[in-house]
Amino acid sequence: MNHFVSTGDFTRADLTRLLESARSLRHRAPRTDLAGKSVGLVFFNPSLRTRVSMEIAVTSLGGHAVAMDVGANVWPMEWLEGLRMEGAAAEHVKDAANVLSKYCDAIAIRSFPDGKDWKEDRLDPVLRAFVKHAKVPVINMESALWHPLQALADILTVADEVKGDPAGHKITLTWCTHPKALPLAVPNSLALAATQFGMDLTIACPVEYELPEEVMSTLNANVKSGGGSVRVVHDQDAGVEGAEFVYAKSWGSLRTYGRASEGMRDRTRYRDWRVTEERMARTANGRFMHCLPIRRNVVADDAVIDSPTALVYTQAANRLVVQKAVLLKLLGNTK
Ligand code: CP
Repeated sequence: MNHFVSTGDFTRADLTRLLESARSLRHRAPRTDLAGKSVGLVFFNPSLRTRVSMEIAVTSLGGHAVAMDVGANVWPMEWLEGLRMEGAAAEHVKDAANVLSKYCDAIAIRSFPDGKDWKEDRLDPVLRAFVKHAKVPVINMESALWHPLQALADILTVADEVKGDPAGHKITLTWCTHPKALPLAVPNSLALAATQFGMDLTIACPVEYELPEEVMSTLNANVKSGGGSVRVVHDQDAGVEGAEFVYAKSWGSLRTYGRASEGMRDRTRYRDWRVTEERMARTANGRFMHCLPIRRNVVADDAVIDSPTALVYTQAANRLVVQKAVLLKLLGNTK
């Protein structure tokens, strides 16, 4: 089965072809590649960009998108197997995935982590349950571990900005403070894709916020096999020094995972981890990136987000064309 779960399931050549396809889909009249085809969009969590851009991507390729909000306009769902379902969930993912496979040609899933136990969340249980039971391609619209559509849009943004190959260009993924412990999917996927494309990646974060060991191992393996570099620094000023791209994102700590009040103490300690004009002045005329939504003047200052260096709306725009390319790859007649 041809799923789209993580960029890590694809080679650099595959991903480069997807980016080329995405570029070719800009400024095009509506198409009919997906005529007669339906895509189910299953949201366990809120979304603005992903929801709207996926609906429009499917429609503009001639298909039909059906968006579902789990627990709101479709039944609350359980994904663990073998349970006596006496809780809030009225439907099992096993049944939902099988039924949606009868109606839809692909099923796209947004499922954030539960946020209580990393040992469970690292298995990406909701997405994996859909992959296990669906009879049609599954598209990851952000799971506990990965946000591949965002990462691909981000790499397209970088590639367009450098007018060529991202390899060897310097990107800093910087942790920023936030009132909540956010999921790791965006930083994991951005770091993964940056190393898949041979970029020089710096991850700037407090020591408690290092990415999962298994992700770091994959980044190092990518660097070994495909070039580029990866380093981790625990000082935000040093981390952004000389960067061509500063990618701001907050994420929760694995050290305090599921322990909200301890995590909050940490994040209060690091409340000056914020992208400011002063920090951007340390970069090599760096461009500011964020996947959005962003908490203004917490993660980054208005002056940075609203400055001409910011690429945040270009990143969001690129979601649409990248998703069209992925849909065409999975469901179109041309591969
Ligand atoms: N960047 C992103 O995935 O945005 P939404 O959460 O609004 O979909």
